[in-house]
Amino acid sequence: MPSRITDASVEAMLTREKAQFLQRNPKSRTLAEESSRHWLQGVPMHWMVDWGTAFPLFIQRASGVGLTDADGNAYVDFCLGDTGAMFGHSPPELARRLRQASEDGFTTMLPSPDAAIVGRLLAERFGLPYWQVTATASDANRSTLRWCRAITGRKKILIFNGCYHGAVDETFVSLEDGKQKPDPALIGEPRDLNELTRVVEFNDIPALEAALAPGDVACVLAEPVMTNIGMVLPDTGFHAALREITQATGTILIFDETHCLSSGPGGYSGAHGLAPDAMVLGKPIAGGVPAAVYGFSQAVAERIRTYLKTRTPGHSGIGTTLSGSKLQLALMRTMLETYFTPEAFAPLIELARRLEKGIADVIIKYGAPWHVVRVGARVEFMCSPDRPRNGGEASRIIHRPIDMAIHHYLLNRGVVITPFHNMMLVCPATTKAHVETLIEGLDNCLAELV
Ligand SMILES: Cc1ncc(COP(=O)(O)O)c(C=O)c1O
Repeated sequence: MPSRITDASVEAMLTREKAQFLQRNPKSRTLAEESSRHWLQGVPMHWMVDWGTAFPLFIQRASGVGLTDADGNAYVDFCLGDTGAMFGHSPPELARRLRQASEDGFTTMLPSPDAAIVGRLLAERFGLPYWQVTATASDANRSTLRWCRAITGRKKILIFNGCYHGAVDETFVSLEDGKQKPDPALIGEPRDLNELTRVVEFNDIPALEAALAPGDVACVLAEPVMTNIGMVLPDTGFHAALREITQATGTILIFDETHCLSSGPGGYSGAHGLAPDAMVLGKPIAGGVPAAVYGFSQAVAERIRTYLKTRTPGHSGIGTTLSGSKLQLALMRTMLETYFTPEAFAPLIELARRLEKGIADVIIKYGAPWHVVRVGARVEFMCSPDRPRNGGEASRIIHRPIDMAIHHYLLNRGVVITPFHNMMLVCPATTKAHVETLIEGLDNCLAELV
């Protein structure tokens, strides 16, 4: 019989922890006040106020798994820049390479000798032969969608309800009572996104089949595991069906592996033998320095070449000046050579297993109506007894005051997990002791909540 966590116990914890947050962070508070004079919404990037705290923590230093804020408080970081720092903050090999690269120039609008090596490494690790570089995963997704539309001559894309693929306009459409609806929170979008996008629930094979049957969808853009609405795992057979249906309808299958890179050196596709037509990798691919890549299969690349023969010359709408830069290539090379390797991943995954088990034990100890999931080095607990099978189910679980109470509780005790949901990443600098600190924090938190 699961224990009950009452609204009153959550409220009491949140009120107390919010007060403690104010007390612990006077310098961050002052910096927030000063910053609000010249930054829109008080921060250099507006999401930074979305952590749910009264003001953002101002981070003085980030190294390995450690953060130190402006007040001198130390934290063990399991958020790791929401995957940008998946291999730790300033990973040593990358920092060394960055120091060297800083003498050789950053951007030239021409390839550097690292290009040949990085292209080969991407093909070897991720199984697709042709690649391009962008500055962000959002850009990589946008570019991939354009190529897919160009070569198929189809306008629509298909996404899964509750997905997130970055600032990509046509992915902000979701299902409400079975009807698709553009996200009303989207700022300044003049188009009717319903015309560009079809949405179905993850793991819903009949709905996917029906949505692709007319043959007017250029591509499916999907994370192989949904990671931005809690974690939603694919049912057995879902990926086989997705591959089969996309192939049968001439729809290009793009996997956005930006977060699923936590699965191993070849991403989730590599770890599970999946073969998408295209792939997007962002955030940690250059260790957190802005870079992303997208890759295509031989067949897609050949269609692109054919398309290019007839294309009108001029602006393509794809590509930005700082993409494919010397600096990005140098850093991606180091990341691929040093960190995207089976040897580097093995200890991360082992430690993430320990974290998953520790959290599962705490859940059982208190009979909490929660569950925990893991994808490689990525672990997430969700405050519901059952695993959601799709974005609709997941959205009813997350973003509740309980998450906010837990986040505040952990922050005030020197542990950071990802805002918006309850994701934790293990990096090479994470130790068993760090993991035990997090498990103990959750244990104490639950002792008070149930
Ligand atoms: C799966 C996925 N794709 C793309 C992005 C966009 O990444 P960026 O914000 O670096 O462009 C994100 C960001 O969280 C993401 O989770």
